[in-house]
Amino acid sequence: MPLPASIAADRDWWRHAVVYQIYPRSFADSNGDGVGDINGIRSRLPYLAGLGIDAIWINPWYPSPMKDAGYDVSDYRAIEPVFGTMADAEALLAEAHDAGIRVILDIVPNHTSDQHRWFQAALAAGPGSPERDRFIFRDGRGPGGNEPPNDWMSEFGGPAWTRVTEADGRPGQWYLRLFAPEQPDVNWNHPDIHAEFEQTLRFWFDRGVDGFRIDVAHGLVKDADLRDLGGLTFPLPADAPEDVQHPHWDQPGVHDVFREWRSVADSYAEPKAFCGEIWVSRDHRLTAYLRPDELHTAFNFNFLQSPWRPADLRRVITSTLASHAGVGAPATWVLGNHDVCRPASRYARPQELVRAGFPNLHSYLGLPADPALGLRRARAAALLSLALPGAAYVYAGEELGLPEVEDIPDDARQDPMFAGTGGENVGRDGCRVPLPWTTGGESFGFSPEGSAAPWLPQSSDWGRYSAEAAEGDPASTLGLYRRALALRAELPALGDGDLAWVEAGPDVLAFTRDPGFGCWVNFGDAPVALPEGSSVLLASHDLVGGRLAPDSAAWLQFA
Ligand code: GLC
Repeated sequence: MPLPASIAADRDWWRHAVVYQIYPRSFADSNGDGVGDINGIRSRLPYLAGLGIDAIWINPWYPSPMKDAGYDVSDYRAIEPVFGTMADAEALLAEAHDAGIRVILDIVPNHTSDQHRWFQAALAAGPGSPERDRFIFRDGRGPGGNEPPNDWMSEFGGPAWTRVTEADGRPGQWYLRLFAPEQPDVNWNHPDIHAEFEQTLRFWFDRGVDGFRIDVAHGLVKDADLRDLGGLTFPLPADAPEDVQHPHWDQPGVHDVFREWRSVADSYAEPKAFCGEIWVSRDHRLTAYLRPDELHTAFNFNFLQSPWRPADLRRVITSTLASHAGVGAPATWVLGNHDVCRPASRYARPQELVRAGFPNLHSYLGLPADPALGLRRARAAALLSLALPGAAYVYAGEELGLPEVEDIPDDARQDPMFAGTGGENVGRDGCRVPLPWTTGGESFGFSPEGSAAPWLPQSSDWGRYSAEAAEGDPASTLGLYRRALALRAELPALGDGDLAWVEAGPDVLAFTRDPGFGCWVNFGDAPVALPEGSSVLLASHDLVGGRLAPDSAAWLQFA
C-alpha cells in the first residue's frame, strides 16, 4: 500500500525523525494475558500521534521461545502468537501510516533461536555437515575436547560456547553463542545466511515497513581463525592502534554485509532506512558504518553514556557532529532503550560515582539516588537531545518520566543476564516494566481489568507516572514532550543541520541554530541569566526570576 502523501513527500525522514521505541511486551496488552501485543499498540496510535513522533521502532515481534525477550528468533517472517497475527501487523502498518507514523522493525542477524529450523537441522546433521556450517560449530580443546574452542565470553556471563550431545549420546562439538545458550551465532561466511536475511528484509519492506533497527550490527563477522581474546577487552581504548582488531566485534568484514543491505533498501521506490546497534566507542569506527553505501544511521551510545556534566556532553556532541559530517550522515540522540537504566534513574545518581561499564542498572545500583533531581535532569536532557542536529530516539515511558524499577524480586526477574551471571548483574528488567496508562486499576491500564498479572511486576506507585495522571498536570513530562515535538515540527531550525556553540559559563551548555533558535542548559547550582534579545519558547522547569533554574533547559527564540 502506498504511503499517504503527507509522509511520502518526506524522503529524508530518517535524517530528522523522532523515533519512539516500543517494547511490545511492555507497551499495551489488549487480550489480557499480561503481555503487551500488536493490538495494544494499535489502540494507542492516537496517543502516539498526539505525542507528535515521526516513527515507531518495534522490538522483535517474531515467533520466539522468549529466552531473551524475542531476540531469540525462530522464524523471521512471521508474528509471535503472543503478540498477535500477521493480519494484526499489517493493520498496524496501515493505521500507523495513516496517522503519519512510519514503522521500523528490529532485525536480529547475529544469532537465531536454537529452535530455528536451521539450528535444529544443524544439531541433527552432525559434525562436518553443511547444516552445521550455517552456524559456528567447533571441536573443543583439551583432552576429550572438554574445553571450549577459545576464550570468548558471553555477554550474559560465562563462556560463549555451549557443547552439544551428538546423536550417539556422546558429548560432541561446541557452538558459539555470544549471548544466551539458546541464541546460536550464525556464520556470515555462508551464502545461505546472506540470502536468508536479504529475503527477510524484502519480506517486510514489501509489506510497507519503513526501516530496520539492526541488532548487534557490529558483531556479525568473526575472526576467521576464531583467535583467542588473550585479555583484550571491548570497546578498545581510544588510543588503540588501528591494527589492533577485536576477534568478534567490529570486524572489517561486517561492512560488506551492510553494503549488500543498503542496495536492498535502495532498490525500493520508498525511502527505507537502517539504524545500527553498534557499541563501539571510537567515533571513526562508528561512522565507518555510516558511509553513503552502508547504514543510514546508528545509535549514539556515547551520548547515552555521557555523565550529566557540561564538559562531557559538549565533548560528545562536538565529536559526534564532526565525525558524522565526515560521512554525510545525520547524528542520532539517544537517552535510553530496553537495555539500559532509565535516564531519570541514571541522572539521579552522583555522576562522579557512576561505575564504568555497560549502563544497565548494575552500574547504578547501591549509589545514592535523588529521584526528583533525576527526573529534573531527564527533562532537561530531553530538551537538549530534541534540539540537537539529526534524529532523536524516545524510549516508551521516557515521555512519562518513568524511573527504573530497582526492586524487582529475584524470582520475578526474566532477563537472561541475571541468571547468566549467577545474579551478580541484576540485568535489564527494570527498564522493561509494563507501562502505566491510568492512575489506578490492577495493572494501571496496561491490561484490561481482570487480566493475568503483567509479565514483570509494576511498582505500587506506578499510577503517578501514568499518561492519565499527566493529562491533568500542566507541568507533566508528557506535556513537555508534546510541546517540544510540536515545536520541532514547526521550527525550521530544528532537526537536521548544524549548531553554533555559545560560551555561557562553565556550568552552561548553550548553542544556537539558524534561524533564530537557541538551547540553553544549566548544570550548575544557581540560576543563570538567559541571553538578551531572546524569548523562552519552552523550559523544562519554571524560570527563577526570569533566569534558567539549575538542572534545567530552555528553548529560546531570537528575534
Ligand atoms: C541487543 C539487544 C538486546 C539483546 C541482545 C542480543 O543488544 O538490544 O536486548 O539481548 O542484542 O540479541
